[in-house]
Amino acid sequence: MRHYTPFDQLVMSADTALRTLFGEPVVTERHYPAADITDYDFSDNDRKHIAGLMRVNHSGEVSAQALYQGQSLTSKNKEIKDKLQQAALEENDHLAWTKNRLNELGSHSSLLNPLWYGGSFAIGAFAGAIGDKWNLGFLAETENQVVKHLESHLNMLPGGDLRSRAILEQMKEDEQKHATTAIDHGAAELPPPVKTLMAAMSKVMTSSAYYI
Ligand SMILES: [Fe+2]
Ligand SMILES: [Fe+2]
Repeated sequence: MRHYTPFDQLVMSADTALRTLFGEPVVTERHYPAADITDYDFSDNDRKHIAGLMRVNHSGEVSAQALYQGQSLTSKNKEIKDKLQQAALEENDHLAWTKNRLNELGSHSSLLNPLWYGGSFAIGAFAGAIGDKWNLGFLAETENQVVKHLESHLNMLPGGDLRSRAILEQMKEDEQKHATTAIDHGAAELPPPVKTLMAAMSKVMTSSAYYI
């Protein structure tokens, strides 16, 4: 097994950041969940609304990628680092799928993504540094909040949009699995004020990424 110096890790982090924001993320071989579903002929308003929702989800995945990268950079536990890297790959699938859907809808990703990436990376690095049980606790809470958020988006999608629905359903399943993995590895329950703060921060992101 190769040993990476801090400098190697820094270069790899920069590479992941640039790929996440501007390039082609490294993905797994999974099937695009919407591939076999015929698209619907949406009204302009519906199309705009769906693009807004998918832009929020894409930004969420940009943040997830940054969190995982930050957490795995500072975590000292090899097993947890491996789990984080595996989950980061699955988040890249989500990133690619939501971007793909935005392209299909003729829309763009959030212009604020570099901001979400930077902020989330710093938060992730902090969580990774304060110890495994808090690191995992933070991860579990993030994923639980994402699951709730995806449920709300599934309710907000127009009925005809089976393609976006298939993508979000698969993402929800994966996020639930990420939360369970974190809990199985000893995640601590975060104090309620921290959970509230996290929810407030994601609210800022979700309400701006819908438009910008
Ligand atoms: Fe995700
Ligand atoms: Fe996740």
